[in-house]
Amino acid sequence: MKIGILTSGGDCSGLNAVIRAIGLSAFANIKNVELTGIPDGYGGLIRGESYPLRREDLEGILDRGGTILRTSRQPYKKMTQAEEDGTSRLQKMCANYRRMGLDCLFTLGGAGTHKTAALLCMEGCNVIGVPKTIDNDIYGTDVTFGFRTAVEVATESFDRIRTTAESHSRTMLVELMGNKAGWLTLETGIAAGADAILIPEIPFSPEAVAAFVCERLKSGRRCTMIAVAEGSVLASEAKYKKDERVFVRTERGETTVTPHLAEVLQQMTGAETRVCVPGYLQRGGTPCAFDRLLCTRLGEYAARLAGEGRFGVTVAVSGNRITFNALADIAGKYKLVDPNSETVRAAKNLGICFGDNA
Ligand code: F6P
Repeated sequence: MKIGILTSGGDCSGLNAVIRAIGLSAFANIKNVELTGIPDGYGGLIRGESYPLRREDLEGILDRGGTILRTSRQPYKKMTQAEEDGTSRLQKMCANYRRMGLDCLFTLGGAGTHKTAALLCMEGCNVIGVPKTIDNDIYGTDVTFGFRTAVEVATESFDRIRTTAESHSRTMLVELMGNKAGWLTLETGIAAGADAILIPEIPFSPEAVAAFVCERLKSGRRCTMIAVAEGSVLASEAKYKKDERVFVRTERGETTVTPHLAEVLQQMTGAETRVCVPGYLQRGGTPCAFDRLLCTRLGEYAARLAGEGRFGVTVAVSGNRITFNALADIAGKYKLVDPNSETVRAAKNLGICFGDNA
């Protein structure tokens, strides 16, 4: 059996741990197995590049950040469009899958990767997805690998930023990754004891946040720590499409709402206000123990599915069980934070401000 592996989309901690688990399990349990690495995600498959992955290539990578296969972003929208040579990227990938003689392809990636994986399946390729992303927004799985590590890193960053914010009596906006989903900001915010948490699923009013900061100042609390997801939206712009919001922000020379909020808070509260963006720190470095274990379980399960000839699926976590979903059922769907969830309610009951005045 010839197995291909690729890692696609934004990287995160744990990709190598999954590659290792798939490989070790396949070498141990599937007869005459051959492992092939495809570089740069779908980019490598489009170009038809691959190289053998040997057992020794899998050694010492359990705790290594990034991906030994490298990755790239390949927009889903472009997959079915004809290119200059008259064929689409999807057609090229299918042709290369066959030319490489693959019996199965593992796609380690996020929501976009899964959408493309579903397309490949419809074209007759045997695909098994493994859910990766620090955004934790893949539909049908309780958790994605890379998320827990990102929460740990973001929480540690937040703790460090707090000490300097407290020393200077500042309002500090810590912008965390998460464009569509606020999981990382919500869980980090709670774990790090943020005073306010702003996430895309709960559009906020800067005036409500400013009133909250003023209240704190009045009661002698001179530092306010705010966790802001990069995809957070103002209540006043929630009715606009993403493209329109991006246009308005680009006009202001901004990519997220955070600089605008900082300006408003500074003006309305008089408190010195700063922005800190931990950025790619959240995606880099060694996976935490939770992710190492999760990646090992997901990878081993995925290899088992290949051995059983079960394709067109993605591995998932449900409760404490590893299971799978049909790619066709989950592709194109997102798992977002429910504003009425128990976690959000608990945070609100502790007095954490979400800027929605609720
Ligand atoms: O992997 C998802 C993500 O971390 C988003 O939260 C973020 O917006 C995006 O990646 C940024 O990635 P890049 O700059 O690598 O495209």
